[in-house]
Amino acid sequence: MLAACAAAAAIGPATAGADNGKAKAETCVACHGENGISATENVPSLASQPDLFLQWQLIFFRSGARKNETMEPIAGPLSNEDVRDLGAYFASLKAADPSVVKKPDDHPELTEAGKQIAATGRCASCHGDTYSGNKAAARIAGQREEYIVKALHDYKAGVRTGGGVAAMAEVAYPLGDNDITALAHYLSRL
Ligand code: HEC
Ligand code: HEC
Repeated sequence: MLAACAAAAAIGPATAGADNGKAKAETCVACHGENGISATENVPSLASQPDLFLQWQLIFFRSGARKNETMEPIAGPLSNEDVRDLGAYFASLKAADPSVVKKPDDHPELTEAGKQIAATGRCASCHGDTYSGNKAAARIAGQREEYIVKALHDYKAGVRTGGGVAAMAEVAYPLGDNDITALAHYLSRL
């Protein structure tokens, strides 16, 4: 975790706050959606993600610790100040209103299964009681369903390692494909 230790110096509160971030985010919304709510498959929503989570992910893309051919070149040129401003901006946006964006729950049995796996897996202990995220742990409530599936597979396969004590690798490793499908179904509809 040497890279993460060195990067930690870059993380902090934005000095000029979310206003600067809004101008810098103009290039991001083409993919991540107006207001940070993604309408694009495999592109995550950023609205209302914890500031720290956003900053860490940008630092990970910038250093190449998180591999992604789309995001690495975008994060590469960002300064530490850009990272803070962008983090503050997207954290300040409202999450998608579930009553507006909610897809019909065509598989209530998957919702129930996902809820139970989330309880057994103690996802809330890090992601918060409403799964709205906490510090470096992402908001997972209301995230795009197929993106949650992708993220969990990436952790399980070791393609994505994340920060700290590799928390998600341990969490994802024992999950089977059906568990992942159910978790994503449940969490994306919160
Ligand atoms: C060309 C499309 C595109 C643009 C433009 C773009 N992104 Fe992304 N972004 C992606 C994709 C695709 C991913 C998912 C990567 C993966 O699957 O690991 C992503 C992931 C992220 C993540 C990780 C979120 C999470 O929940 O894991 C952050 C943070 C992020 N982008 C911030 C930004 C910011 C800030 C900008 C503008 C400076 C930006 N992106 C511009 C496509 C884009
Ligand atoms: C020990 C703490 C911890 C536990 C328990 C935990 N998580 Fe996480 N989770 C994290 C952290 C920290 C991150 C950010 C990791 C990174 O930097 O990639 C994360 C990231 C994620 C992501 C990626 C989100 C995104 O937008 O990129 C998903 C999905 C996720 N967790 C789902 C779950 C589920 C489902 C469970 C329960 C089965 C769970 N987590 C349990 C700490 C935890």
